[in-house]
Amino acid sequence: MIKFDKVTKTFGPAHALQDISLEIHKGEFISLVGQSGAGKSTLLSLIIGEERPDSGRILIDDIDVSRIRRTDIPYLRRKIGVVFQDIKLLPNRTASENIAFALEVAGEKASVIALEVPKILEMVGLEEKAKSFPHEMSGGEKQRIAIARALIHKPVLLLGDEPTGNLDSINAWDIIQLLLKINKSGTTVILATHAKDLVNSIKKRVVTIEKGQIIYDQQKGKYVL
Ligand SMILES: Nc1ncnc2c1ncn2[C@@H]1O[C@H](COP(=O)(O)OP(=O)(O)O)[C@@H](O)[C@H]1O
Ligand SMILES: [Mg+2]
Repeated sequence: MIKFDKVTKTFGPAHALQDISLEIHKGEFISLVGQSGAGKSTLLSLIIGEERPDSGRILIDDIDVSRIRRTDIPYLRRKIGVVFQDIKLLPNRTASENIAFALEVAGEKASVIALEVPKILEMVGLEEKAKSFPHEMSGGEKQRIAIARALIHKPVLLLGDEPTGNLDSINAWDIIQLLLKINKSGTTVILATHAKDLVNSIKKRVVTIEKGQIIYDQQKGKYVL
């Protein structure tokens, strides 16, 4: 589903990623681990076409993301949901409206939005927060809403860039459980994190990068740094 073929990305003189080759299959759950500055976010930004590699190729299904036209990027993005450490919900909109907004922007019909938003709220276990504003929700709840928003286009791939970074360990584990549930329903998940205990509890494939290179790639892996 995703193939990195000898990908190198530099920022100025420094290698953010160096000669990365990696294959990710449909339905996998990957923990992408490594210390701060290792290149995790860079790898994710290459997948969504936000950055381009200096050399090598990145294929997603049959799309060569490393050569994608700017005008095709919105179509790529609809196949990919992304959640970040920093949860950016619209403060003046309720949970429901935050999720609906992603569909409105895409020009979806009101009748479809009215049907889809409650379904996705149920998926993330927050039906009762539909009418709550972001300031009325906990960090963990806000991240669930952000995940719901990321899933609204039914993406084939969900990327998390340190999505538990600002959460306490109980809320963090709840978010991981949710990601595992989403993965179980068929969505491929890539979780970039340096939360060692979480990764060791997940017992799925672990890809470790250090200074822009893959140093470890193991099924049912552990956090090895
Ligand atoms: N936009 C950028 N401009 C310059 N350097 C960058 C940029 N993005 C990342 N880097 C550098 O690339 C390296 C990898 O960064 P990053 O992918 O953010 O690591 P991680 O997400 O693992 O913490 C770091 O040395 C970082 O400083
Ligand atoms: Mg990062």
